[in-house]
Amino acid sequence: MSYRLAVLVSGEGSNLQAIIDKLHGRDGIEVACVAASRAGAPALERAERAQLPARVFATADHLDRAARDEALAEWIASHGVDLIVLAGFMELLSPAFIRRFEGRIVNVHPSLLPAFPGLRAIEQALRYGAKVTGVTVHFVDEGVDSGPVILQEVLALPYSRPIEAVEASIHQIEHRLLPRAIRLLARGAVKVDPSDPRVVSIEEEDGDGSD
Ligand code: GRF
Repeated sequence: MSYRLAVLVSGEGSNLQAIIDKLHGRDGIEVACVAASRAGAPALERAERAQLPARVFATADHLDRAARDEALAEWIASHGVDLIVLAGFMELLSPAFIRRFEGRIVNVHPSLLPAFPGLRAIEQALRYGAKVTGVTVHFVDEGVDSGPVILQEVLALPYSRPIEAVEASIHQIEHRLLPRAIRLLARGAVKVDPSDPRVVSIEEEDGDGSD
């Protein structure tokens, strides 16, 4: 049985590329479709190169964001998707969309949440003078970067570095942490405590930490 992903993107798509390279067609995991929030996103070229079904869902092409999200939800559902991955998707999704796919949407965020949610998280951490930052993969709820944490990895910021260098290090972490989280979800190794849905536990197996 396959485990099918919808990947939502807005920009460069380097996380989409990591998913394609490390997961697509392996261990039953398939990228079923790619949706972009804007035309011209370089991520769309990556989807095309990998011969994946891809479509643009720009709010401007619909009545409003709720209507866009309804069309997006129908398209995703038509691909029989098990998990929706926000990989650099720079827009909020409507509550109806989140509720429809509850517990089946994950996001990658470039900070150690709950620190520095929202936009420009790397810049926020540097400006704050934080000595550590990192990457979080979390379930998506109706708030901004507020859902239960699945995996986190720390990046030390022991001294001031150019933002480009920190961004490069963060991306390297994202490109292994997000595929690792998806692999764990596909294996059913991610458990949410029903009595406290904030608490996510992972049943690790040898090899889960590898790229
Ligand atoms: C990543 O840093 C992600 O954490 C953030 O947006 C960036 C997207 O990068 N939300 P890419 O489009 O995957 O290259």
